[in-house]
Amino acid sequence: MTTDIIFETKNLSKHFGALIAVDSVNLKVRKNSLHAIIGPNGAGKTTFFNLLSGNLEPTSGQVIFKGKDITHQPVHRTIHFGIGRSFQITNIFPNLTVFENIRLAAQAMGRDNFKFWQSASRFKNYEARTSEVIEQVGLKNRAYTLARTLPHGDQRKLELGMILAPDPEVLLLDEPTAGMAAEQVPDLIALIQGIQKSGDRTVMLVEHNMNVVMSVSDEITVMHLGKILAEGTPAEIAANKEVQTAYLGGLYDLNV
Ligand SMILES: Nc1ncnc2c1ncn2[C@@H]1O[C@H](COP(=O)(O)OP(=O)(O)O)[C@@H](O)[C@H]1O
Ligand SMILES: [Mg+2]
Repeated sequence: MTTDIIFETKNLSKHFGALIAVDSVNLKVRKNSLHAIIGPNGAGKTTFFNLLSGNLEPTSGQVIFKGKDITHQPVHRTIHFGIGRSFQITNIFPNLTVFENIRLAAQAMGRDNFKFWQSASRFKNYEARTSEVIEQVGLKNRAYTLARTLPHGDQRKLELGMILAPDPEVLLLDEPTAGMAAEQVPDLIALIQGIQKSGDRTVMLVEHNMNVVMSVSDEITVMHLGKILAEGTPAEIAANKEVQTAYLGGLYDLNV
């Protein structure tokens, strides 16, 4: 792993009226790391991701991606810079097949997404990319299944495939295991780790399952009331008294 910084925020804040959802956050994310953001509900994690991806404009502060200020870039631009994100809600097209969903996501990155029919060869490239992604997320046997008929675990894999299709450098994954049966979680997590390790990619992960967070993260940032409460390796976070008191105590058996 290099020590290059891929994402940096400087005094990044987002206010919703009187509520300060993200409060002067200074964060550095190392390239090719798996960086988890944890914290109780309402801590500001999703809002923070929205600021990184350009889904929300910050009230103040900066977002730097690969040394470039992208603070005021909207989401349709950030996807071209190599930032891919998921949402807590599943945003797949239910009446399309797995293949069609992923192909649309792959096409969305093309500069030619509104005139793709003009170029048969580009279209073929998208098909090839689609097949590759389907294989990578383990949905080869489901390629022609309608998304709505997939089991929940496979829908989450499809969603991951849709983020992966445009070949992003950074994946922002907001609770990818939410609502999954416990026995399906290790499979998805292994997939996420595989994507991060094999493809020169950085993964930022919001995740409530502390066993998952502690076992897969290179770096953990703990948010609380919009601020960074602590940062460190899993071992450092598990040993942090302030974190234990404010957050981890009731949720995670630190003696495991
Ligand atoms: N669009 C919005 N308008 C007003 N308040 C919001 C909006 N989005 C989030 N919030 C508030 O901002 C705070 C942080 O929310 P969120 O980022 O969703 O936290 P988390 O993802 O950590 O649970 C919460 O108090 C939430 O109610
Ligand atoms: Mg959230």
